[in-house]
Amino acid sequence: MLLTGQRVLLIGGKGGVGKTTVSSALAVLASQRGQKVLLVSTDPAHSLADAFGRAPIGDRIARLAPNLDGLELDPDREVEQHLAKVSAQLKRFTRPEMFAEIERQMRLTRQSPGAQEAAMLERIAQTIELGLSDYDLLIFDTAPTGHTLRLLSLPEAMAAWTQGLLQANQRAQKLGDVLDHLTPKAGRDLDNPLGDPKEHATAGMDERSKAITETLLARQRLLQRTREVLLDHKLTALLFVLTPEKLPILETARAVTSLQQEKLPLAGLVVNRVLPDSADGDFLAKRREQEQQHLAHIASEFAKLPRYQLPLQATDIQGLEALQQMSALLTEAGF
Ligand SMILES: Nc1ncnc2c1ncn2[C@@H]1O[C@H](COP(=O)(O)OP(=O)(O)OP(=O)(O)O)[C@@H](O)[C@H]1O
Ligand SMILES: [Mg+2]
Repeated sequence: MLLTGQRVLLIGGKGGVGKTTVSSALAVLASQRGQKVLLVSTDPAHSLADAFGRAPIGDRIARLAPNLDGLELDPDREVEQHLAKVSAQLKRFTRPEMFAEIERQMRLTRQSPGAQEAAMLERIAQTIELGLSDYDLLIFDTAPTGHTLRLLSLPEAMAAWTQGLLQANQRAQKLGDVLDHLTPKAGRDLDNPLGDPKEHATAGMDERSKAITETLLARQRLLQRTREVLLDHKLTALLFVLTPEKLPILETARAVTSLQQEKLPLAGLVVNRVLPDSADGDFLAKRREQEQQHLAHIASEFAKLPRYQLPLQATDIQGLEALQQMSALLTEAGF
């Protein structure tokens, strides 16, 4: 059901539990079932290319298999492109004496906490917007838990990024009138990312102010639409990967609590690397005993969530053929 109902799947989990493998195998599975799939890596340490055993992909769509494209998002590139655009716009409308100050503000913004994450969020937003019109299913392989959770606290990330830029603009005296327009009293949506995007925030501004404000507003609205998609249980599902071990279980419990607080559509858990019945020997028997306890813990702790179990394989999963085998195991697991 999961792969036919929703249009956006986000795969999260602690470092090394198998997020990239599960995302890739799910993408292979959905594409084999005839869906047109875009698999997107948002982990700055990209590994989609490794999983598929192919040359680096990078921040442009590449064909991975029939019906299946891949993309590795690059937030640095986004930060650079965005700042270049804003600073070009600022320069177009300011005196040359201000250029050094604009450059300085752009450098500060580039280094400000959260700039990279916010830029990644914007790339994700663009990818969702474009991807939803070209693909049946978008699958996001995300960075380890903490990173993803921060990324998904959308309102904060949105505010930090745009407000950083607005503050940079504030210093440029020439833009004083833009800011007059954006004071909280005026009730403009730049100050309230969740305000009405249809409100005509630039009415009455001069051309110079309009251009810059429109750029910032366009981003704000894009992120707002993304937020709506991500919170829509009919469109989006979040799957959390964990292994039957103590620390991944603890981290998953914390993440599940945060996700539920944010009202994100958590659709289930993938319990990866479960010892297969065929594994024998005294050593493995002992491990299995401990694993049974962890699996029992998972079953009680996450009783309300659907759980899908994937067996540990004898070797790493690399290349399309190995991913196809993994996707068969996903079908057995209930996907
Ligand atoms: N069920 C499995 N059986 C055997 N090997 C597995 C299994 N699942 C994943 N692996 C292997 O474990 C390693 C880590 O998996 P993967 O890269 O998918 O994890 P990840 O959660 O994406 O890691 P990171 O947090 O670093 O992005 C890979 O070499 C992968 O091939
Ligand atoms: Mg990974």
